[in-house]
Amino acid sequence: LKSDKPLEQKQQELCDYLQSTVPHYDWVGFYFKNGDKEELKLGPYAGEPTDHTIIPFGKGICGQVAVSNQNFVVPDVKAQDNYIACSITVKAEIVVPLFVNGENIGQIDIDSNTPDPFTEEDERFLEFINEEIAQLIEKD
Ligand code: SME
Repeated sequence: LKSDKPLEQKQQELCDYLQSTVPHYDWVGFYFKNGDKEELKLGPYAGEPTDHTIIPFGKGICGQVAVSNQNFVVPDVKAQDNYIACSITVKAEIVVPLFVNGENIGQIDIDSNTPDPFTEEDERFLEFINEEIAQLIEKD
């Protein structure tokens, strides 16, 4: 992350790396607040393409995190009523908000085809990743 490459490319490489390295990370992507709109826009991601490139605040797991400012760990997506399915193979999801200067400006979203795979270790790890990305965004 310390290279001179453009920010988007670093985010893309990070998604590719996490998705190919961590066995229970099957889809890894960033969503960012879309300008002044009350919606999220898909940023760099690794895994199957998704139709959900725009997600209104409050909708789905991602939209809920945009409003709550808190990590959302979903051990079983079938048990969620406010959930947007991207692929029928997905069993679980984790979304961790990304803060720049205390403001929730987006999130990292991970889908897993393994049931109930996410632990507090994933939460701490993804919080760390987001802090690193936040620093790059601040400098950009
Ligand atoms: N499942 C998410 C939508 C995004 S896809 O996982 C890529 C949600 O419920 O917000």
